[in-house]
Amino acid sequence: MDISTDQKRRLEEAARLAHQHSYSPYSRFPVGAAVLTASGAIYTGCNVENASLGLTQCAERNAVASAVGQGERDILAVAIYTPTPHPTAPCGACRQVLAEFGRDATVFCCGDGEQRLEASLNSLLPAAFAAGDLPEEEAP
Ligand code: THU
Repeated sequence: MDISTDQKRRLEEAARLAHQHSYSPYSRFPVGAAVLTASGAIYTGCNVENASLGLTQCAERNAVASAVGQGERDILAVAIYTPTPHPTAPCGACRQVLAEFGRDATVFCCGDGEQRLEASLNSLLPAAFAAGDLPEEEAP
């Protein structure tokens, strides 16, 4: 689905605001994410780290959890903001989690410069493992 320029701007702004709540004292790499769902609503998340480093939760996955927790399972787009000169693409784990609810989603990555990374999730995670790969009785 086509995302309007205004929706894109709002999504990026939401991701930018979300990064302010990042809890990232270990990496000092704050990330903000915002997902746009089929209802038109936007849900945000930031990365939340832990002294037990492996328990860190990425911003994108927290944004997805926030949407799903409100009953929204259809993700059209995601924006990711990092306070870096260049945009940062989502990690592999987040691509997989996004694919569960937004197989055809568009990914917008932005930093503090003019440069943008815009790509379909499909192109970032080709041949994603999905519900259809499970035996029928396991699929939702
Ligand atoms: N991080 C995210 O929030 N999203 C990504 O897609 C990549 C990495 C976070 C995890 C950790 O808190 C910090 O960035 C450095 O890896």
